[in-house]
Amino acid sequence: MQRKIFVLNGPNLNTLGTRKPEIYGAETLADVEARVRRRAQALGLEIEFFQSNHEGEIVEKIQQARTQAAGIVINPAAYTHTSVAIHDALEYAERPTVEVHISNVHAREPFRHHSYVSPIANVVIAGAGTLGYELALEWLANHLNPTHSA
Ligand code: DQA
Repeated sequence: MQRKIFVLNGPNLNTLGTRKPEIYGAETLADVEARVRRRAQALGLEIEFFQSNHEGEIVEKIQQARTQAAGIVINPAAYTHTSVAIHDALEYAERPTVEVHISNVHAREPFRHHSYVSPIANVVIAGAGTLGYELALEWLANHLNPTHSA
């Protein structure tokens, strides 16, 4: 549990690779998972990688993080902009949390500018592409063990 990180992905991220590649890139979610697992191994972190199109399933997974994870990386996708339930679950989990967006949501439509997650996230990464997931792990590794130098 000490070094386990939940990497959580919200709705439509299962379509990465075919969905608007000009915005989200050509990598599939499986590619992202492989990249995340490689980086986690190098950082000495264990990963549970999860994607759901259902808000309640994401809420339940976040609740589990309270006792099962040392930290959370979450791309809540469209629920970022709508979900008080995900906000409340993250507040309950009380885990160090990094919010990741592949695209720069602030350079897109106004409805993407507000996040229910950002007020309870420790770190927000937007616009770094799928590298954002790796940057999130790097921050968590340092946060969990400040002497870490990888
Ligand atoms: C996203 C941005 C959201 O606005 C959008 O609904 C997504 C993906 C991103 O990773 O850039 O599904 O979270």
